[in-house]
Amino acid sequence: MIILGIETSCDDTGVAVVEADSKGCRILSNIVSSQTKVHAPYGGVVPNLAARAHLKNIKPCFERALKEAKNPKIDLIAVTVGPGLIPSLLVGVNFAKALAYAQKIPITGINHIEGHIYANWLLSIQNSKFPILCLVVSGGHTQLILMEGYGKYKLLGETRDDAAGEAFDKTAKLLGLGYPGGPILAQKAKEGNPRAFDFPRPMIRANNFDFSFSGLKTAVLYLVRGLRDSPQSLGTVPISDICASFQQAAIDVLVSKTIRAAKKYKTKTIMLSGGVAANQELRKQLKNEIEKNLPNANFHVPPIKFCGDNAAMIAAVAFYNRKRGQSPLRGLSPSGTI
Ligand code: KG4
Ligand code: ZN
Repeated sequence: MIILGIETSCDDTGVAVVEADSKGCRILSNIVSSQTKVHAPYGGVVPNLAARAHLKNIKPCFERALKEAKNPKIDLIAVTVGPGLIPSLLVGVNFAKALAYAQKIPITGINHIEGHIYANWLLSIQNSKFPILCLVVSGGHTQLILMEGYGKYKLLGETRDDAAGEAFDKTAKLLGLGYPGGPILAQKAKEGNPRAFDFPRPMIRANNFDFSFSGLKTAVLYLVRGLRDSPQSLGTVPISDICASFQQAAIDVLVSKTIRAAKKYKTKTIMLSGGVAANQELRKQLKNEIEKNLPNANFHVPPIKFCGDNAAMIAAVAFYNRKRGQSPLRGLSPSGTI
C-alpha cells in the first residue's frame, strides 16, 4: 500500500510517500522544509510564525513529495495529530482532511512520539524482539517507554521539566551559541573536555525513570554568571569545555536510567530516537553501555536523517497500526481517531 505522511507538529513541514508491504517500508519521497531562519531571531520556535510558515510550505512540499514518488495512487493519508503546537498541528490536519475529503482517501491520525519510535522501522527491523525499551529524546519530550508488543505501550518515566533537546537549546542560547542550539552545542563539545566542570546529574539516583534537566541548565547559568563576575573572565574558559561537560552530564543521566530500566524490565531490544538521538556521543555511549551491561540485547537507532521530525516516520506508524489495534500513548487520543 502507498501511504502519504504529513507532519507539522512543530517547526518542520514534512510530507512523505512511503510504500509498505509485508517486507516493510520503502521511502519513495521524504520532504522536510525547515523553518530555522524564521525562528532564529527569536532564539526559539514562535508557534504562530510556525503555523504561517507551514501554511506557506505545505502545498509545495506535498507537490514535491508526489513528484519525487512519481505520482502513485495514495491508499491512506497519515497525519500527526499530537502532541505538538496546536497552531502548527492544525495546518497539517486540515490540509490532510481536505485532501482526504476531495480525493476520497481514508485518513488516520498519528501520535508524534509513536512516529519517532517508528523511525526505527523505516529501514526495516521486522523481527525486533519484544519487550522493547524506547528512549525518545526530542525538543519537546524525554520519555522512557516500554513497548510490550505492537501498540502496547507503558510509559516508564519522563521529564518533569525541560526535555533533553530543550535543555541543549536553552544552554546553547545562554552560552550565546545561536539557534537551533542542540547541534551547535554538540559540535562545540567535540573540542572540549567533558570532565572540566562537574555539573549535576539530576535524578540519576532517584528510584524511578523520570528525568529533570532544568537544574542542569541552571548550573551552567550560575557558572557563566560567576565567571563573568569574577576577575577571571569567561573568555579564559573555553566554551567547548562547558559544552562538553554539560553534554556529558545529560548523557550520563539518559544512559544510566535507560540501562537500569532495561535491566529491570528485561528488555531484549533498546531503541533510541527523536531529534537528540542525532547526538553522536549519546549514540556511542549508549551503545557501549548496552554492550557492557546487556550483552544479549539489541540496540537500534535511526540514521541521523530520520532522528528529527519527518513525515516518513508518521507514514510508518500508519502501516504498522494496521497490524494491530490502537495506540494508547499518553498525551492524545489514540492514533486512528481524527
Ligand atoms: O525531534 P525533533 O526534531 O523535534 C521535536 O519533536 O522536538 O527534535 C529537535 C531537538 C532540538 O531540541 C534540537 O536541538 C535537538 O533535537 N538536537 C540535538 C542534536 N540535533 C538535534 N541535540 C543534541 N545534539 C544534537 N546533535
Ligand atoms: Zn519530534
